[in-house]
Amino acid sequence: MAKPIVYVTRKLPTEIISELTEKYQVKMWEEEEVPVPGDVLMKEITQASAVLSMLTDTFDEEVLNMASQLKVIANLAVGYDNIDVKACESRGITVTNTPDVLTETTADLTFGLLLATARRIPESVDIIRNDQWKTWSPYMMAGSDVHQKTIGIVGMGAIGEAVAKRATGFDMDILYHNRNRKPKAEEKLGASYASLEELLAKSDFVVSMLPLTKETKGMFDAQAFDRMKQSAFFINASRGGVVNEADLYQAIKDEKIRGAGLDVFANEPIGSNHPLAQLDRVVALPHIGSSTVDTRNRMAMLCVENIKRVLDGMEPLTPVKN
Ligand code: DGY
Repeated sequence: MAKPIVYVTRKLPTEIISELTEKYQVKMWEEEEVPVPGDVLMKEITQASAVLSMLTDTFDEEVLNMASQLKVIANLAVGYDNIDVKACESRGITVTNTPDVLTETTADLTFGLLLATARRIPESVDIIRNDQWKTWSPYMMAGSDVHQKTIGIVGMGAIGEAVAKRATGFDMDILYHNRNRKPKAEEKLGASYASLEELLAKSDFVVSMLPLTKETKGMFDAQAFDRMKQSAFFINASRGGVVNEADLYQAIKDEKIRGAGLDVFANEPIGSNHPLAQLDRVVALPHIGSSTVDTRNRMAMLCVENIKRVLDGMEPLTPVKN
């Protein structure tokens, strides 16, 4: 009998994929830096029992309609806004993601981005790269302090809590806004719950750790930036879609807020011609929140484990619930 097909939508390390090859026929999109084109995905998915997918792949009704054998989509990300989970559920397709294994790594990057933005680190690096350093001067690249300031975390999931933990080391006051309160985090980290309005008004650093949903789409808009302090920074390491980017651009341009650190964008990838990437007061990164070798290996292994479990008729380790 032919082995069931697992389709992997990006080139992943052989040692990880070899975990699947004994029982399954693994087909892989062999590119590292180019996402699988939609028409190729549509074709491959017709035969596949499992897909190991990336956040750059879209699974909507049109794609899922082609997937007559598909049992599981294992998404290599904690976010799964690229997948119509409801449509999967109605077709009996299990969706899994990769929470927990990337929490600390993503929190490291988020806090690093906050520091880089406040202390103008990339701009300062450019001064040397561009031979512009003429002398030491008292206010050259003068940035903003981070220690003892107020951080406001919007979306207090595991990564939000891990960011808050880092903030305790900088003696920051920690505010958070979340769908539900987190009494343990309040006790352990000294975090205080705040309404969104209060958090925006009081924070020196507003940090978005929100998933992208119908409710969060575009929620950081002109009105939100108007509420923030003029000296405050907006940091986003979640999903670009939670921000109205034109409003953010205008808010920084008009000096309604001081700047932003962005690891994610509404339409990725962006280039140097993106309006936000052209502002000195924006530190823009190419969506590298969970990108360390160890963590990406752990994420890929978790996807493999989830696929094996579902195809063996067991519960996956990290199912996504609609
Ligand atoms: C995630 O896991 O959702 C991240 O954005 C991937 O880097």
